[in-house]
Amino acid sequence: MERIKINGKTKLVGEVNIAGAKNSAVALIPATILVKGISIIDNIPDISDLKGYYEILEELGATVEILGDNKVKIDTSNVNSNVALSGNVKAFRASYYLLGILFSMFNSATVGMPGGCNIGKRPIDQHIKGFEQLGAKVEYTNDYVKIEADKIIGTTIDFDVVSVGATINVMLGAVKAEGTTILNNCAKEPHIVDVANFLNEIGAKITGAGTDTIIIEGVDTFKNYVEYSVVPDQIEAGTYMIAAVATKGDILVKNCVPEDMEFLINELVKMGATVEIDNNNIRVVGNENIVSSNIETSPHPGFATDLQSQMGALFAITNGTSTITENIWESRFGYCYELEKMGAKVTIDNTVATFDGVDTLVGTEVKATDLRAGASLIIAGCVANGVTTITNLHHIDRGYEKIEEKFRNLGAQIERENYND
Ligand code: EPZ
Repeated sequence: MERIKINGKTKLVGEVNIAGAKNSAVALIPATILVKGISIIDNIPDISDLKGYYEILEELGATVEILGDNKVKIDTSNVNSNVALSGNVKAFRASYYLLGILFSMFNSATVGMPGGCNIGKRPIDQHIKGFEQLGAKVEYTNDYVKIEADKIIGTTIDFDVVSVGATINVMLGAVKAEGTTILNNCAKEPHIVDVANFLNEIGAKITGAGTDTIIIEGVDTFKNYVEYSVVPDQIEAGTYMIAAVATKGDILVKNCVPEDMEFLINELVKMGATVEIDNNNIRVVGNENIVSSNIETSPHPGFATDLQSQMGALFAITNGTSTITENIWESRFGYCYELEKMGAKVTIDNTVATFDGVDTLVGTEVKATDLRAGASLIIAGCVANGVTTITNLHHIDRGYEKIEEKFRNLGAQIERENYND
């Protein structure tokens, strides 16, 4: 087994390069099935969720060639199966995009129920509703979902909740529909725009991605060759921005999209940090006088739920009382109990976590309860006095590329080591 060991009390200083967005790549990689030819995808993050996806594509008949840490060539010419039920499918959440893609390709798809971070109930009723309205009959068990239609027919779909996954999945399911599909009450995250851009690049006709309403004119065929570069990861960028403030450091976050980070920039500036933007780079400088704050998560462009755990590490050592209200996932405060082991003072009341800032945290043994919890604990470990060890690294590896290397380059004393359980 592996664990991360951090010797804390370090100001993080330097530059970090942001990888491509996980939550975009996990939709783009399977969407290459629509190409039925060669896709060269660049700026993809080197994370374990994608390795799982490459294996699923190979199980379906594709060939996948890694061209470097961040580039992959996928040949989907021979993908002829619309059934994806392997262990890989069940291992992570975003395998649900196979439903939309295989449905588009074959008018029918059978896909295992997805896994992923344990952060609350994760229903897919809005995905199902969308497919049904496109004409699919749905068979839904604890193990798999099967959707099938004689014809996929464009229609107007009003989502009842704003959902990243449902927006992308139903968009994927509608790209070849007969006529026009209008999706209302869509999620607007940057990765949704990125997936729509990719689909348009291969021949889809999608407008409105990034707004509440997405319009999809169905097309029959797609290009057989594409080169595409994934948008930078908003959440990875935010993680290092928060780490700069928490450690009173000075980090230049390179290759990100500052407009996508406005909710966080505004918050960090309000708390007293200095933030400078220069094209695709954001410099964040912390100081001794950071003040407490209150955040509330909501869909983009609101405060991203995927950055609240990292903010929790910052609030834990910020003078005064701060609160986080989590409106997306009901069980996303697991990391708070780990921070408490490090001396944080946190009370949780349903969807609200209240942090009474302490002067410092103390290193101890903690575990990553989910992906972003892991990032939060690494930040806390850099702040803490003494040694912090973090276990359950598979969560972190699912979504952060070379995380120890990137923190080490910023001055963190961080190592990954083997241990016997
Ligand atoms: C995506 O999950 C991300 N995952 C999550 O990132 C992220 O936290 C989330 O969007 C919100 O931004 C991927 O992109 C792979 P949702 P997703 O559908 O699509 C409810 C991370 O750390 N809902 O936008 O599964 C749902 O219960 C991960 O990188 C329904 O009720 O999230 C939740 O309360 C964790 N019915 C809300 O909508 C549905 O059919 C938003 O979920 C779908 C969702």
